[in-house]
Amino acid sequence: MKGIILAGGTGTRLFPSTIACSKQMLSVYDKPMIYYPLSVLMLSGIREILVIVTERDIELFRSLLGDGAKLGISIEYAIQDKPRGLADAFIVGADFIGLDSVCLILGDNIFYGDNFTKRLSKIAKDIQGGVIFGYHVTNPNEFGVVEFDKNGKAVSIEEKPIIAKSNYAIPGLYYYDNNVVEIAKSIKPSGRGELEITSIHSEYLKQGKLQVEIFGRGTVWLDTGNHKDMLDAAIFVEAIQTRQGLYVACLEEIAYRKKYIDKKRLIELGESLKSTEYGKYILSISDDNFFEGE
Ligand code: TTP
Repeated sequence: MKGIILAGGTGTRLFPSTIACSKQMLSVYDKPMIYYPLSVLMLSGIREILVIVTERDIELFRSLLGDGAKLGISIEYAIQDKPRGLADAFIVGADFIGLDSVCLILGDNIFYGDNFTKRLSKIAKDIQGGVIFGYHVTNPNEFGVVEFDKNGKAVSIEEKPIIAKSNYAIPGLYYYDNNVVEIAKSIKPSGRGELEITSIHSEYLKQGKLQVEIFGRGTVWLDTGNHKDMLDAAIFVEAIQTRQGLYVACLEEIAYRKKYIDKKRLIELGESLKSTEYGKYILSISDDNFFEGE
């Protein structure tokens, strides 16, 4: 399975901070926003990653993440010249996807939770159709919304409805088989002129090939599209890291625990950042006694 991070967009809700650079370069507490979605792909076991960005920002991303080799992964870049919508990721990324299955994650989405890694790795290993998630929120009408029948089966999906049929929003993390590329090419822009991810889901649903899994109370999903959400996310990350002494989205740690890099490389990466708590944390991992719970 391949992975795509959609990190273009205009970020107008974060103006003036994003007048000159991508929101995904802004810091959420102690690391750039894009580290969070990248960590999710790495935790899913995905090592071939495409980052879709605007032409203006591509060099910033290259200088931050490079080709991924230092983390033992491969990162490529593609330009989306206009924010044509989320489903455009599969058109811009068609060559990169090739004949593979693909996971798409939005550049401003943060996920964290117990058992999350195992669950995602399982989905990534064996996918047929599409797998998306439902997450209970207070403000569903700001998102894609999934409606379930009384047996818990998804029956409808609507994009930002005025009156939502349920409280279950669809987070920006989606897994698909290779058919997603053809489906993306066949859909038409919506009234607001975007290729909607909801149109892709409606098509999979129509074909009986859409699975909607619930992220329960133990999973945190935050998006960081406006200033208050960014602050809330930063406070959350700081609280978890301080309390547990375990980091959220430390890419070097994930690469090491997944055995993408060895201890020598981990120490080199930590040394280069050692004037920060983040760097000291990386150095501390090389001989820690952390156990993943069941
Ligand atoms: P949005 O938050 O919907 O859009 P935006 O980033 O342009 O922000 P704003 O509404 O403040 O103007 O996008 C969600 C994520 O998807 C975000 O990480 C940007 C990305 N995105 C693209 O890369 N290309 C697109 O065509 C769209 C619609 C979004």
